[in-house]
Amino acid sequence: MNVRIVGTGSAVPKLRVTNDDLSRLMDTSDEWIKSRTGIESRHLAVEETTTGMAAEAAGKALQEAGMTAEELELIVAATATPDRFLPNLACEVQSALGAKNAVAFDVSAACSGFLFSMNTADMYLKNGFCKNALIIGAETLSKIMDWNDRSTCVLFGDGAGAAVLRAEETDSTEAQPEGILSTVLGTDGARGMVLRCDNRPVNNPYVQNDTALSYVSMNGQEVYKFAVKTVPKVIEAAVEKAGLAVDKIDLFLLHQANYRIIEAVAKRLHQPMEKFPTNLQEYGNISAASVPILLDNVKNHGMIKKGGKIVLAGFGAGLTWGASVLRW
Ligand code: UT7
Repeated sequence: MNVRIVGTGSAVPKLRVTNDDLSRLMDTSDEWIKSRTGIESRHLAVEETTTGMAAEAAGKALQEAGMTAEELELIVAATATPDRFLPNLACEVQSALGAKNAVAFDVSAACSGFLFSMNTADMYLKNGFCKNALIIGAETLSKIMDWNDRSTCVLFGDGAGAAVLRAEETDSTEAQPEGILSTVLGTDGARGMVLRCDNRPVNNPYVQNDTALSYVSMNGQEVYKFAVKTVPKVIEAAVEKAGLAVDKIDLFLLHQANYRIIEAVAKRLHQPMEKFPTNLQEYGNISAASVPILLDNVKNHGMIKKGGKIVLAGFGAGLTWGASVLRW
């Protein structure tokens, strides 16, 4: 059974905020942000919502797949910033699309979320539970940022990306399988507090609680070290599991947290930066949405050829990480 991506889509808010715009609001500078991260701007929601952007991205992915919403059988959405606790984002997208025959649920794995949702859908498809799936990474991170903490708020943005997966019987004469060839995922909850955003505190008739709402806090250097060490290893493991060599990979689409992290990963893998397209310059870090938006951008620029081998890789809060190898 081959499980292939047959459509992608993305959506970001209209408002683009540059580093210079932020330097008028807080003690930061274009020079600091750009030199430490590569980020030049981010798109921030004003009227947009996680659901609205996810549904827009999903609509484009469905259109490219040549499918109607009613044909969808599964929706798996990855987000840390849904619009509501209940219902989940996937159900909200199901409603927005009119995908009334789909089963819809969310996965929560922060910046690795798209990899986790793709792997979940891949397993459902390969097990024969359904024949197609919509996977989504969507975030409105700006609402959980502490806009008085310049060390975090300048890094993140809002947006959504989506992909339609389809299961196809493998042709026994086919020389090489296509679609998702392998996935390796990992988690380390013991180190989770380096990147956190607490939920609402216990609040009931037996507890007096006036704790203020929590926002994202991060030990940037610890996350940096974790990423640089773990991402090359998980990519190597996924490539080996696919029966390939790292040199044979055409493109590495990494979570867009920091250009320096991507350069360090490329160096450790002995691969040229030309194989690592980026869009963090324009969008910043959009957690679960980073990888699917980059995939959509790269595909729309004609950078993925039929038969091309690509790696998708994510890492972030949890700690969580993952990589998948695909033949297009
Ligand atoms: O998707 C989740 C994954 N997250 C990541 O991958 C983040 C990984 N970490 C990083 O990308 C980097 O650690 C950061 C970009 C977050 C920070 O870079 P850094 O080189 O580790 O800087 P730092 O935190 O050590 O801060 C250096 C200095 C500090 O000043 P002092 O103490 O040296 O005087 C900060 O107060 O930079 C200061 N600083 C800023 N200055 C201007 C921190 N934020 C800012 C800012 N503008 N926005």
